[in-house]
Amino acid sequence: METQAVYPGSFDPVTNGHIDLIQRSAALFGKVVVAILRNTEKIPLFTIEERAVMLEEAIQNLGLKNVLVTSFAGLLVDFVERIGASVIIRGIRAISDYEYELQMALMNRRLSSKVETVFMLPAEAYSFLSSKLVKEIAELGGSISAFVPAGVDKRLCSKIGTK
Ligand code: PNS
Repeated sequence: METQAVYPGSFDPVTNGHIDLIQRSAALFGKVVVAILRNTEKIPLFTIEERAVMLEEAIQNLGLKNVLVTSFAGLLVDFVERIGASVIIRGIRAISDYEYELQMALMNRRLSSKVETVFMLPAEAYSFLSSKLVKEIAELGGSISAFVPAGVDKRLCSKIGTK
């Protein structure tokens, strides 16, 4: 039976680092479900629908047939179990990510023994990249074209009124 993995996150917006991890995950697992968190304390820049469209566009451009995009609310492990998946994928860019990710992975394991967290490393070129920094650079008039898919560059610039 093929292993289904869930790649959860805010994706506000998706960056080339996320895309790199999606590509790596798609090569490892039978099916990868990119799951956008709906119930978040953070106030997002993009709506769930906008974030899903940007992810879907980038995934389609890469021709990844075993990746789909959806959203979820509530506990991540409940969502993972509900769709019949067994793996949570999380990216670790640097040691600074590790503490938070370890805490979440251990708590998720405590909440469900059926779900395993797999940590993956993006390409080194993306180890400094985050959605937060990309938004800040765009807001301050810097170029983000090297950091995000073309569709995200366009939408982010029009959302914040640059270009
Ligand atoms: O991209 P992010 O914001 O780092 O993703 C965080 C995410 C979505 C993985 C995390 O906030 C999450 O899983 N939220 C769902 C609620 C939940 O299950 N909380 C308990 C985690 S131990």
